[in-house]
Amino acid sequence: MTKDTLSITDNRTGKIYEVPIKNGTINAIDIRQIKTGAEDFGLMSYDPAYTNTASCTSRITFIDGDVGILNYRGYPIEQLAEQSNHLETTYLLLNGDLPTRPQYEAFTSDITHHTMVHENIKELIDAFRYDAHPMGMVMSVVAALSTFYPESKKVRDKDTRRKQIHRLIAKVPTIAAYAFRHRTGLHYVLPDNELSYCGNFLNMMFKRTEGTFKVNPVLEKALEVLFILHADHEQNCSSTAMRTVGSAESDPYSSMAAAIGALYGPLHGGANEAVLRMLNEIGHKNNVAKFVNEVKSSGGDVRLMGFGHRVYKNFDPRAKIIKKMADQVFEVTGHNPLLEIAVELERIALEDDYFIKRKLYPNVDFYSGIIYQAMGFPVDMFPVLFAIPRTAGWLAQWDEMVEDVKEQKIARPRQVYLGAGKRDYTVMSKRA
Ligand code: ACO
Repeated sequence: MTKDTLSITDNRTGKIYEVPIKNGTINAIDIRQIKTGAEDFGLMSYDPAYTNTASCTSRITFIDGDVGILNYRGYPIEQLAEQSNHLETTYLLLNGDLPTRPQYEAFTSDITHHTMVHENIKELIDAFRYDAHPMGMVMSVVAALSTFYPESKKVRDKDTRRKQIHRLIAKVPTIAAYAFRHRTGLHYVLPDNELSYCGNFLNMMFKRTEGTFKVNPVLEKALEVLFILHADHEQNCSSTAMRTVGSAESDPYSSMAAAIGALYGPLHGGANEAVLRMLNEIGHKNNVAKFVNEVKSSGGDVRLMGFGHRVYKNFDPRAKIIKKMADQVFEVTGHNPLLEIAVELERIALEDDYFIKRKLYPNVDFYSGIIYQAMGFPVDMFPVLFAIPRTAGWLAQWDEMVEDVKEQKIARPRQVYLGAGKRDYTVMSKRA
């Protein structure tokens, strides 16, 4: 007879325990009962980077890393990239289903209504140094928004939560564009609510003296696709930061500032920026083989940025879509010479035993930077271009976590203490 349970024999005591299996997992607290005696705290699991630990149940994003599947609320990413737009996908992530026409129009109008930021935000951005990294500015301004909207602390109230979610989705592109304009010494451009989500962002970024910035429809569509691809990715480092901070019932602005901080890192969303710097450093496709050898012999110190993923061990479906889209973008913008180096790097790496054995493939960040650069974005804006669409995912994850009152509590992992045992304080003159 089969049963959905796991039997564990503790060889220290000879005792056998039976714990339930649900959704392919055992509950970590169920192994606490496994003790050698009354004094024993009980068994814990050790998983420093959460490599095999599910921290929540979720109904938002499904990934099968072995076969390269990514679905938002059940819809394959390939279909969304081809047929949807970023606001519709955002609605889907937040609400669970694609909107009807009236729902979509109401949502778009709501987001558009919130695109302006308080004039004090400009002063806040002005206070940054002329060469401040835009991601640092965006992170700080998002944190500061909690002081503009103190009611956001009522995280248990659904309507209040919804309002902050709409505010953040609407305002993050404005803040991002303002950070860029400050960096380049250009005047701030107010949001234009006649434009699409991406069209408005491009206008706030690039408008100079002309009445209305002419947004190239191919580039606008490319940005929509890039935003859709980056909108959510289940329990990655930054979403986990969002959920962890949010679990303390912090307001969403503070939680999202933490998520932006996590995304900023070069092993996560900062990788697109790092890829561009790496390609520039390589300089020419003839130098690729030498660089790959450096990576291999560095013992893990030098990484091929934009390669490898914790979950995808076959290919990253987002990278496939981006690579295909690159040709359309380059038809408009002209060729990016770094593409040649990237293609050669991918070719050599994919034939090399080191990368094959470790299942290292190009991830979403490998080609996105080359496209962003061709579109006119400076390299240090790349992580910001990741943060704008990921706002949707972070907020969907946060909202789901707050609603899950049955299972979620304040996040508080355990540790394995290996430090000094109890010892007595000695005065400074007596210390060796
Ligand atoms: N270049 C060279 N070697 C690598 C790379 C890489 N990009 N990634 C992993 N490896 C090697 C490691 O050195 C390790 O080798 P070892 O077994 O000989 O020690 C092995 O592959 C496994 O690597 P881990 O670090 O254990 O893999 P993990 O799943 O923890 O890391 C990560 C995933 C962080 C994405 C990693 O692949 C990496 O650093 N990639 C480069 C940065 C990057 O592109 N990040 C963006 C990821 S996508 C995103 O976050 C949006």
